[in-house]
Order: sequence, then structure tokens, then C-alpha cells
Amino acid sequence: MPVTEPVLCKRIPTPPWGDPKDRHVVGYDEYVKTGGYQALEKALAMKPAAVVDLIKDSQLRGRGGAGFPCGLKWTFLPEPDDGRRYLAVNCDEAEPCTFKDRLLIDFDPHLVLEGIAITCYACGLDTAYFFIRGEYRKQAKIVQNAIDEAYQHGIFGNKGSMKGKSDFAVECYMHLSAGAYICGEETGMLECIEGKRGWPRIKPPFPAVKGLFGRPTIINNVETLAAVGPIVEYGIEWWTGMGCESSVGGPPSYGPKLMGVSGHVNKPGVYEVDLGIPLSKLVNDYCGGMRGGKQFKGAIAGGVSMGVLGPDQFDAEMDFDIGRKYQVLGLGTACPTIFDQDTDMVAVARNIARFFAHESCGQCTPCREGTTWTYKLLSRIERGEGTSKDLDLLLEIAGSMGIMPGTTICGLADGANWAVRTIINKFRDEFEARVKPVLVPLGVG
Ligand SMILES: Cc1cc2nc3c(=O)[nH]c(=O)nc-3n(C[C@H](O)[C@H](O)[C@H](O)COP(=O)(O)O)c2cc1C
Ligand code: SF4
Repeated sequence: MPVTEPVLCKRIPTPPWGDPKDRHVVGYDEYVKTGGYQALEKALAMKPAAVVDLIKDSQLRGRGGAGFPCGLKWTFLPEPDDGRRYLAVNCDEAEPCTFKDRLLIDFDPHLVLEGIAITCYACGLDTAYFFIRGEYRKQAKIVQNAIDEAYQHGIFGNKGSMKGKSDFAVECYMHLSAGAYICGEETGMLECIEGKRGWPRIKPPFPAVKGLFGRPTIINNVETLAAVGPIVEYGIEWWTGMGCESSVGGPPSYGPKLMGVSGHVNKPGVYEVDLGIPLSKLVNDYCGGMRGGKQFKGAIAGGVSMGVLGPDQFDAEMDFDIGRKYQVLGLGTACPTIFDQDTDMVAVARNIARFFAHESCGQCTPCREGTTWTYKLLSRIERGEGTSKDLDLLLEIAGSMGIMPGTTICGLADGANWAVRTIINKFRDEFEARVKPVLVPLGVG
């Protein structure tokens, strides 16, 4: 069953479902009038373990970038003791080209809060921190307002609250991020919430066992949490009827997905579509086609850290298999940026490298030095001052930094390396046309 009706955007008239002029923040009363918080009531009538099983069986995969199975993550928590247990809600959304969580906050914050309440009940978590991007000042006000409303109506707060239907009590706080990309990395986020510099932590221990303030912590993305309520309300069959199976023998990509499309299309924006939709269909049927009728040249798969799709990959299916099938890192945030025929891919690579060099937190030498030198080399090539040796050096640097080669603490370096490697590999001609050949002296002796 394809996504014919919006699921996460049920109350948001997004294109093609409504006029953007009709959009407004859905407050508590309107949310309840349109069926909101019924999923929480349903969850509270179930045993917490049954809610965890339901989410596990739905095979909901994380929407924050890695696609990790949500229910499985929840089972990593140890048995409760007398101490605190936390939920850290990741709304940092600092990945360039990614702007889909913002839509949920801008228009339907209670959908996320309901997901938070259900998750805390299911996993026995008593405190939630809503971590929001530093630049999202307007959205921070919306979130704080919605949290206040949720307290007033007994969703959060003292024992006996949760609409008076449970002994369980959850406190929910908003925490404004410091405004750096690395603060969205899950352990960088935990450090920030603890009031420290957003430096990622070495794992293990994993946050489910030792997270915030050394206590068990679940970390989920805003869109993942927004999906929890609808799954509880409408059931597994409904959820697994959307999206697609894996075509390479991996786990499925069920459910709808928010895809934020930017770049050279006629109607950039956030669209709620089935996972597995071909990129060409997303661009042509939803985004009004390529801007100015130009040819598709390539696309960032889903946030710059995922790398790029080449000219022959316009029909790539946007699901969690995309990495294995199309030589990119993965689906990431599923927010593609589209490039037309006139795009200078050397400039694209240099611009992305600049971002990573600026955002590296500097703890790991391969990342700190690697991203800086990658940016310097690409700038040199863009100016026409590079040599063919620089290209090989770039690929060597890129291939030697990241969690995958085992040289760094977090995934930022992998993102930098995949972005640069895939652009050079898929658009090598453009780079070669910009570099000078290395002259080898002839016939000495
Ligand atoms: C450098 C870096 C930045 C990240 N930024 C975000 C972010 O802004 N939002 C997010 O949800 N996940 C981000 N992630 C992924 C998180 O570490 C984590 O996997 C995610 O929040 C888990 O939620 P999920 O399982 O619901 O997807 C980032 C990862 C890295 C390596
Ligand atoms: S990989 Fe880069 S961003 Fe991540 S911890 Fe190491 S230096 Fe910091």
C-alpha cells in the first residue's frame, strides 16, 4: 500500500496535500480534537514490554541517519534499578541539506511529544531531554510551549499523571544545542546536555547502558519518535503495508519517510513518501521536475555525509538498501540535494570538504588533519593549481579516516570521506580536466 494519505504530516498541509498558507502550529486542543494522544492512552493500557515488542515487530528503523532498528535499540536497556533512566531526543538537525525534523516541530510538536511519552512508558525512562539545534530559536519556543501544554494536561509531570492513567511519571526538558554539527552525534549530544563541550565519547560503553550522567539512556531522532504513536494506534500491518522489502536480502524499509528535497528542482520542500520511491519519481512527480528543464547530473543521497549518486543513478530507490546498491554510505536523513547538468562537481566537493574541516571536533588526528588537508587540496584543484598526484592523495586520505577503517571515534570522518570519495570516483573526468599532469623527466642516462 503506497502512502496515499499523509501519516506523519496528517495535520500538516504539506505539498501535495494542501496549501502552505493553511499551515500553523497545532496546539494541544487541536491535536486532541484530531485524534492526538489516543495512541498514548492505548499504550498505557498495554504492558510496557508489549509496546517494546510492537515497535520491534514493526521493524521501525531510526530516521536520524543510521537506520538502526528502533525496537531492538530499546531492548539494550538493562533492567530498571532505583536510579534515573533517560531519553535523549535528537533534534539537532545540523546536517547540511537536511530540514525534515524542523517541519514536524514547526507544525505538529505534540506528535513528537506523544512519541516521547510512549517511548518513556515502554522503556521505563523517567526523564526526557529534547535536544534542539542552536539555530532553531523559533522552533525552540514552539517546543517549549508544547511541553508546557503537555505538563498542563498531565502528559508529563508528577506520579499519577500521564492523563491520570498510569503511575508512571515522566519529566521533559528542552535543551538548546550549541549550534555545531558534532553536537548531533549521539554521544556529543549527551556531553552537551551534561553541560560540557560536544565531544563524542569512545564506545563502548554504549549509551543504553551508560549514557547521560552515567545512566541508561535511549537516543532517538525526532522523526523516529513521531512514528511511534501512529504505529501504536494503527498497528503493524498498517505500518508494514507502506515502504518496501529489501531487494538485497537485508532488513526491510517499512513505513513512510519525510524527504526534504533541495537543489535544482522546481519545487523544493519536504515530502512524505513511501520508502523505496525512485529518486526520479520524487523529483518529477513531487518536486515539479528539474529546474529549467535541465538534465539530472547527480544528487547528494541524504545529507552530505552520505556521498553522491551519479548521472546514471537517477532511478535509485530511496530506501535503506541504497548504500549497498548505489555506492553511497547510506540513506542518511533521506534529504537529497539535486544537481543539474551545469553543476561544477569540483566546487561541490570543495564546499562539502570545507564544511567537514570546519565541523571536525579535532579529537582524532585522522579526522582533524584529514578533513583540513582534503579541503586544502580540493581548493587547490578548484583554482587550477592541483596536479594529478593530488587526486590520488585525496583518495588515499579519504580512505584512511573514519570508523570504518577504525581510526576515529565518531562517524563525522566517515561522512567526510564518503562525500569526497564518491564525488571523485563518479565525476573523475571533471577533476582530471582541472589538474595539471605531473611531468616525469625523460631519458636521463
Ligand atoms: C556527526 C554526526 C552528526 C549527527 N547528527 C544527527 C542529528 O542532527 N540528528 C539525529 O537525529 N541524528 C544525528 N546523528 C545520528 C545520531 O548519532 C544517532 O544515530 C541518532 O540520533 C539515533 O536516532 P535514531 O536511531 O532514531 O535514528 C549524527 C551522527 C553523526 C556521526
Ligand atoms: S571523528 Fe572527527 S568529529 Fe568525530 S570525534 Fe573524531 S575528530 Fe571529533
